[in-house]
Amino acid sequence: MIVYFNGKFLELDDVKISPFDRGFLYADGIYEVIRTYYGKLFRYADHLERFRNSLKAIKINFVETDILENNIYKLFEVNKYSNPNLSIYIQVTRGVSFPRKHSFPPDEVRATIFICVSPIENDALMIDKGIKVILEEDIRWSRCNIKSISLLPAVLANQHAVEEGAEEAILIRDEYLMEGSHTNFWGIKNGEAWTAPLSNFILPGVTRTVILEICNSIGIKVSEQAIHKSDIKNFDEFFISGTTTEIKSVTQINGRIIGNGKTGEITGKIYNAYLKYVEGKSWF
Ligand code: PDD
Repeated sequence: MIVYFNGKFLELDDVKISPFDRGFLYADGIYEVIRTYYGKLFRYADHLERFRNSLKAIKINFVETDILENNIYKLFEVNKYSNPNLSIYIQVTRGVSFPRKHSFPPDEVRATIFICVSPIENDALMIDKGIKVILEEDIRWSRCNIKSISLLPAVLANQHAVEEGAEEAILIRDEYLMEGSHTNFWGIKNGEAWTAPLSNFILPGVTRTVILEICNSIGIKVSEQAIHKSDIKNFDEFFISGTTTEIKSVTQINGRIIGNGKTGEITGKIYNAYLKYVEGKSWF
């Protein structure tokens, strides 16, 4: 696999990263995950904006954002993937600096950039029979709107889900369901779609934005409110959303089956509209 690393296109095995890279020492960096549909970057402008916001929020001076898109397309070309559905991982850290010191390194230290592209396996492009999720205390920090590479609480929560035979952990802060460990979370009550409002406690998901647009265009009412734990029983359907996850219906929460245990009607409608959207539109 050819990857992009600090200005060069290299075989993955030829990439050398210093242990003094601040990403390695402090998780001092941010990332972005984008995908293609049919060979084209999906909602690139939204991802680029979030990427720039994350960089700004943690004060990393990285100026290459304008050539990012070209580098990504070059990676498609050199890797010659036949799968038109690709996932693009971009990570920028504050760079390499010795000795280890918490405060920022001198200005001349350059940010480290890494981009890799890989095929999305099992790209279902169809709604599956639904997944199980567990509820987990949200022990993350108060800047979850930044796409930080410091993901340990999310890793632990998701691992717990897997150990419980579930696919995702939905994180609860002050009794409210905020989002998944790596997805946004949605519920449907009386035909209305609920999802947590944008704040520093959730990631502003690009798929979340797309779904809000879809709901608007197909006449599904939206309530940007987080669901209270005690209100779960009053909801008819749930689903999660994310770039590679797309839309997955949630049919079990903490072992409790939701509705008849199958993908609900509104979730199905939103999913079908999402499919049409990714198939039919031009993204630029
Ligand atoms: N996860 N919430 C969290 C905490 C996330 O990490 C993600 C994305 C989302 C969904 O955002 P989007 O629709 O823009 O992908 C919500 C990425 C894909 C990941 O960590 O791999």
